[in-house]
Amino acid sequence: MSTSIQDIMNTSPVIPVMVINNVEQAVPLAHALVEGGLKVLEITLRTPAALESIQAIKAEVPDAIVGAGTIIDSRTLQQSIAAGAEFLVSPGVTDSLLDEALASGVPLLPGVITPSEVMRLLERGITAMKFFPAQAAGGIPMFKAIGAPLPQVTFCPTGGVNPGNARDYLALANVACVGGSWMAPASLVDAEDWTEIKRLAVEAAAIAL
Ligand code: 3PG
Repeated sequence: MSTSIQDIMNTSPVIPVMVINNVEQAVPLAHALVEGGLKVLEITLRTPAALESIQAIKAEVPDAIVGAGTIIDSRTLQQSIAAGAEFLVSPGVTDSLLDEALASGVPLLPGVITPSEVMRLLERGITAMKFFPAQAAGGIPMFKAIGAPLPQVTFCPTGGVNPGNARDYLALANVACVGGSWMAPASLVDAEDWTEIKRLAVEAAAIAL
């Protein structure tokens, strides 16, 4: 049986959201994060290097579980699957994207904010969702409020999650994992400071303990 998105969310409660500009930095960056204890990695399709980076990490960092983020249409979905993405993350969802993702069999973490969006996904049998942008959309009180009528949904908040609030998010009954970019900021990636990124990953992994 294939891995479900719930399995992936439970594997690593803190998921780095990575923006990679230079494919040569992909593997050392992934090594630093995995060695720091974060093995589920989301590579956003926001840079020309993203697809090649997914392929490189898959080939050279066997302990990583590599997903593709910023899936917004059929093209980005199919390119990610062809590159070997083990899971897909979208900031929002459309019916056609959902149809295509479900048909592919590759686990999808679709983005929502509103109760209506949650209910539309529940109708399709989906109970694990990204909540984006978490802080801007209301943060912790929003999760508590939405969890009252819709307790069957498990969320992965991303967008504005940081070391100061990640523990509070993870303590919520309807949050299984959080995503964020704070452990792989552009400044440290540009500087190729893998030691500091690994240290931030160790700290981030400890938040979930
Ligand atoms: C994103 O889509 O950029 C992610 O949600 C990460 O957001 P962050 O940079 O606020 O952690």
